[in-house]
This record gives sequence, structure tokens and C-alpha cells, in this order.
Amino acid sequence: MSVTIGVFDSGIGGLTVVRELKQLLPNQPLIYFGDTARTPYGTKSPETIIQYAREDTRFLLEHGAGILVIACHSAASTATSTLKQEFSEPIFEVVTPSIEQALALTRRKIIGLVGTRATVTSGVYEKAIHARLPDTKVYSMACPLLVPLVEEGWLKARESRMIVKKYLRPLKNQQIDTLILGCTHYPLLKQIIQEKIGRNVKIVDPSAEIARTVYSYLEARNQLSEESHDRKDRFFVSDLTPTTQKVVQCFLGTRVQLEKTSLPCKS
Ligand code: DGL
Repeated sequence: MSVTIGVFDSGIGGLTVVRELKQLLPNQPLIYFGDTARTPYGTKSPETIIQYAREDTRFLLEHGAGILVIACHSAASTATSTLKQEFSEPIFEVVTPSIEQALALTRRKIIGLVGTRATVTSGVYEKAIHARLPDTKVYSMACPLLVPLVEEGWLKARESRMIVKKYLRPLKNQQIDTLILGCTHYPLLKQIIQEKIGRNVKIVDPSAEIARTVYSYLEARNQLSEESHDRKDRFFVSDLTPTTQKVVQCFLGTRVQLEKTSLPCKS
């Protein structure tokens, strides 16, 4: 029996992770939940994010997920330890592989992080990096305007370039050599980010990294689906508008049928 990968995000940004998962694991059944009714998570308190993440997890498990991927950085930074305590299923998240990759890439041990306010204020990146390499300098910048810019499709707009430049200036001044994209939406701005931070700075895009981690996990347990399964991947959202449908294509690179579902029930 194939193991179904359950992926959740605060909205549809997590489809950047699904895109990578499907590239490496095209035959593995997948179920996605995007909490579009309650997005964004990045502006909310840790208590609220933890409760939402708990409900999202429960929804995926009730719909047959065997392993879980937290695609949302705000949820991963804030809720991972609680979810791991409360659920026995394997849980993967985007923070750990980002840190692994950043530590492997940095030469001068000066790492930058961009993300939502929730992600940056959680402090989990600094803590995990310092636990591994105590003398590493970590500089973080919350970039709350980038999520709406991406959702509006302003991926190459002059205004987006100006805003990215302004957010990155303090990190550039600190002469970071590695930059972690700590938000589902930022891979879509990777080109501008690379241009503004400088070509010599290595960019960590965790979506590809998490896909490799999940692949290795399934491979080691002989749980890779070799053949195309009968069940179709399913994409649930808690609210559905024509704009959601349009933006999905931008994140996933292809059209999928979104299913509107009621919010996961509270415990
Ligand atoms: N998915 C969120 C993240 O990666 C970005 C959008 C939000 O704030 O909910 O942090």
C-alpha cells in the first residue's frame, strides 16, 4: 500500500513544495491542504498558528496521509515541536533542511534569513544554527510585503524590485554569504532576490531540499511508489475564489482541481 504524503500550508504558497515533491516522487500519492480561509499565518501569534497547524494536521491524517510535510515556514518555525509531541506520524518540515543546506554552503559563517514576522520572531533558525556552529552570525529580516506582492503576480515589477532591495540592504551590509528563503512565496522572487543580494551570495531554497529528505525517508523504508497509483492527488482549500485558482497555476506551474472543504474541526 502506497504511503500518502500530506502537505499543509497557510494557503497556496506551499505548492512550491508540492512542485518539488512531484518532480522527485511523481507516483507517490499526495494530499494538500491550504488554509486559504485563515491565511496569512505569518502575522498571527504563536498560539493561533499552533492551533491552526494542529487542525490542518488532523485534517490530513483523517484524509489518509501517512507522513506529513509542513510546507509553511511560519507553521514549521512555530508549531513543529508541538505537532511532534501530539502526533505519532512522521513529520517533515522546511526549517531543518534549510539549516542543513545553509551550514553546508556558508564559507564565512555569516547567514541571512528572510521570512514572515512569525518565522523571524520564532528565533528557531538562530537557535538551531548556533547549536551546530556556535560562532556563526545569523541576521534575519521580516519581509511582510513580499507575500502579497507574489500573490498579486508582481514577480518582476519595478516596485517589487525596490521593496526587495530595501529589505535586503541590512543583510547585504552585514556581508552575509548565504541567504535562507524562509517563506513559501519567496522562491518565486528568487531571481530578483539573487540580483539584489549579489551574485556571490548562495541562496537556500528549502522546497527542493525537503523533497530530497522525503524521498530518502521513503526509499530507506522501501515505500517509494514505483507505479502510477489509481488514486488522484487531492488539493483541498478552506476557501476558494477565482483568484485562488489563478494564483495556483503560478505556484504549481500547472492547473489542478481545487476542492473546497470546511475548516478542520477544532478539538
Ligand atoms: N506560507 C507562509 C510561510 O511560508 C507565508 C504566508 C503566510 O504568512 O501565511 O510562512
